[in-house]
Amino acid sequence: MTATIKTVGIIGAGQMGNGIAHVCALAGFDVKLNDISPDRIKAGMATINGNMARQVSKKTISEDERKAALARIGPAEKIEDLGACDLVIESAVEKEEAKRKIFADLCPVLKPEAIVASNTSSISITRLASSTDRPERFIGIHFMNPVPLMELVELIRGIATDDATFDASKVFVTKLHKTIAVSEDFPAFIVNRILLPMINEAIYTLYEGVGNVEAIDTAMRLGAHHPMGPLELADFIGLDTCLSVMQVLHEGLADSKYRPCPLLVKYVEAGWLGRKTQRGFYDYRGDKPVPTR
Ligand SMILES: NC(=O)c1ccc[n+]([C@@H]2O[C@H](COP(=O)([O-])OP(=O)(O)OC[C@H]3O[C@@H](n4cnc5c(N)ncnc54)[C@H](O)[C@@H]3O)[C@@H](O)[C@H]2O)c1
Repeated sequence: MTATIKTVGIIGAGQMGNGIAHVCALAGFDVKLNDISPDRIKAGMATINGNMARQVSKKTISEDERKAALARIGPAEKIEDLGACDLVIESAVEKEEAKRKIFADLCPVLKPEAIVASNTSSISITRLASSTDRPERFIGIHFMNPVPLMELVELIRGIATDDATFDASKVFVTKLHKTIAVSEDFPAFIVNRILLPMINEAIYTLYEGVGNVEAIDTAMRLGAHHPMGPLELADFIGLDTCLSVMQVLHEGLADSKYRPCPLLVKYVEAGWLGRKTQRGFYDYRGDKPVPTR
């Protein structure tokens, strides 16, 4: 029997969490949005509102659909507020200890049959599952950024994930009108295993002075036909997330080819995390992004 998912909890109201809430609500699920900071929940709701308004102006959804979807999203300021959820998707910071702590707080408030998922970009699903009371009902549901626009979702089973959880997750993702790619539980899965080393290499290219920010991004946009340059993309993903993924690849695969570029480390240490802090390889504080190197 495939479990029926009606209410979805989302932990982390950042760029990914609010995007997941957005697509779930439009697909008719009731959504509870949680964050460690109530201000981030408010900001997440405002972002969803603005993004849906843009969809209305582009006529991809109607005003009635926007209103109905917004009415389905409610704040969950306390973890206990997620108690009635059939599925909870964790989309907080890409740090294993933080995720483990979240699961330790979450599991006791959930129904025994509830499914727990992580939107982690890179961390072992089997290891995260082992920190919960329900490894068989734990799965990786990895969305792409920006969630409302990107068609792909990776599904990753941990070693213990049972068939019912996998099947229920497939039905859930299909209802969001996304296409599934199934990945084995290896560091960074499929997309980020390929994408992040390319971004890291672009940062080495900058670090070694082969080209400046503008030259590197122009080269890859026009020379490789990428819709965005790799440094622009790194800023969009968040440099903290990029660094965490490279660290997981480096540690998990024990191969020096995944060594995070020291310049990436330095930017993260400076708090220059890309668009979300208005400064990364570009400076976003003015009218248009200005390359910083
Ligand atoms: N950025 C991307 O392109 C991308 C793509 C796919 C998956 N992911 C993954 O999604 C997750 C979130 O990334 P993001 O880009 O949305 O980051 P973000 O920095 O925009 O948001 C993270 C949010 O989590 C909240 N948070 C931190 N600790 C928390 C806790 N203990 N409980 C509740 N909320 C907490 C923060 O307040 C913040 O609002 C990460 O695991 C990341 O690897 C990111």
